Amino acid sequence: MHSALNRAQGVFGFFTTVALFVAGLAALSVLLYPTDAITSSIKIRDAKVTKGRPHYYSTKKEEYAQLRFDLDADLTPLFNWNTKQLFVYVYASYPSDPSDPTSPLSHSVVWDTIVRAKESPYSIDALRERFSRATSSTKKRPSKMKMTSTKKTNPHGVLKLRDQRAKYSIGDVSGKMAGRENVTLSVGWNVQPWVGALWWSPGSGSVPRTEGDIGVSKGVDLPALKSKVMASAGAAGAAAV
Ligand SMILES: *[C@@H]1O[C@H](CO)[C@@H](O)[C@H](O)[C@H]1NC(C)=O
Repeated sequence: MHSALNRAQGVFGFFTTVALFVAGLAALSVLLYPTDAITSSIKIRDAKVTKGRPHYYSTKKEEYAQLRFDLDADLTPLFNWNTKQLFVYVYASYPSDPSDPTSPLSHSVVWDTIVRAKESPYSIDALRERFSRATSSTKKRPSKMKMTSTKKTNPHGVLKLRDQRAKYSIGDVSGKMAGRENVTLSVGWNVQPWVGALWWSPGSGSVPRTEGDIGVSKGVDLPALKSKVMASAGAAGAAAV
């Protein structure tokens, strides 16, 4: 005869096996959602170079480039039932050696954002909300779903930014950014799932990768210290190099 403990162990063991199997299926199911319809495009609007200190007590000043850009991206294909949130970022690439345009590129992230998946109508919060509304009509709690849906103006997963200021300025070990040539901006993303692998954007070099079109801007040349250059003039300069 089996004791109660044996039975409990058997049930628990079966439960964990089933949970593992279901999680594996959920992780694999994202392969059923095509991601090749993703589009993104980015354009540099403005570039500025200023001097600043790397930290408060530093006596040495370094040059930093601050960019502004326009971004259009349709990342809706990345939202499937296993998507928890997207990490979307914009990074600048430029030749690491200012005197050699063919030198390996330096990359640095200048802007990022997190786009959370819409709350499922079957999430614990949504069900609790529906249940409490059905039982007591007097007690009203603010719904998380409503709060997120009123905040959004664009459809979920669509980004449309105009003249967006970069969150982070670019600097590197040389401390010199003025006059750097052919600085481009590119779009990247990470899909953070509920279960399974972290997916990267194409062009990141990491696996697994989604498909889709990563936007890459035209190259601009950074201006001299504390002056501005329009993107079109910079692009013409880059083409002339
Ligand atoms: C600018 O850099 C990109 C890569 O970031 C490269 O493909 C392109 O050829 C470069 N253009 C010039 C004019 O050097």
